[in-house]
Amino acid sequence: MDPSRISLRPFNCSDVDEFLKWASDDRVTRYLRWNTIASREEALEYIEKVAIPHPWRQSICLDDRSIGYVSIRPESGDCRCRAPVGYAVSAEHWGQGIATIALKIAVSSVFKDFPDLVRLEALVEVENKGSQRVLEKVGFLKEGFLRKYGYCKGEIRDMFIYSFLSSDMFL
Ligand SMILES: CC(C)(COP(=O)(O)OP(=O)(O)OC[C@H]1O[C@@H](n2cnc3c(N)ncnc32)[C@H](O)[C@@H]1OP(=O)(O)O)[C@@H](O)C(=O)NCCC(=O)NCCS
Repeated sequence: MDPSRISLRPFNCSDVDEFLKWASDDRVTRYLRWNTIASREEALEYIEKVAIPHPWRQSICLDDRSIGYVSIRPESGDCRCRAPVGYAVSAEHWGQGIATIALKIAVSSVFKDFPDLVRLEALVEVENKGSQRVLEKVGFLKEGFLRKYGYCKGEIRDMFIYSFLSSDMFL
C-alpha cells in the first residue's frame, strides 16, 4: 500500500454510505465495544451523535473514501495523561498495512493535539492476533496480560494491554 493514499480526517455526514459498508460487517465489529450498524438511518445517527462530537475520532480514508476509523479519547482529572485507542479497517482491505499506516499517523499527531497526553493504551483480546501485530509494528509495548478484564459482545474477556508513550520512538 502506498502510504500517501491513506489519510485521517474527521467524519462528516456524507461518509454515511461508505461508513455503513464496513460498520455493518460483524467481522469488523467483533472485537469492538460498539455493535454492528444495521441500517443507513442508524449509520447516520452514529456519525452525527457519536463520531462527529467525539474529541478525536478520525475516519481512515483510502483516496479520501472512509474505510475505517481510529479513536483516541483522553481521560480526565488525574488520568488525563492517558487515552485508550481503538481502530478498525474494512475487511476487504485487511492485510495491506492500512491499520499500521493509520495508527502511525494518529500517534504522530495526537500528542500535539492534547498537550496533557503522555500515554496511549490499547486493550486487545488474546485471540485478536492481527491487532496485536499492528500495535507491535507501530512500536507499542506489550505490558501485560489482564485476566477477565472486561466485557466484549456480552462475554467477559482476557486481554493484553499495550502502551505507547509520547517519548517512545516509532519502529
Ligand atoms: C486488526 C485490524 C485493524 C488490522 O488491520 P489491517 O489493515 O489488516 O492491519 P495491517 O495490514 O496493518 O497489519 C496486520 C498484521 O497482522 C497480521 N495478522 C493478521 N491476522 C493474523 C493472525 N490471525 N495471526 C497472526 N498475524 C496476523 C498480518 O499478517 C499483518 O502483519 P504483517 O504485516 O507482519 O504481515 C483489522 O483486522 C480489523 O479492523 N479488525 C477488526 C477490528 C479490530 O479488531 N480492531 C482492533 C481492536 S483492539
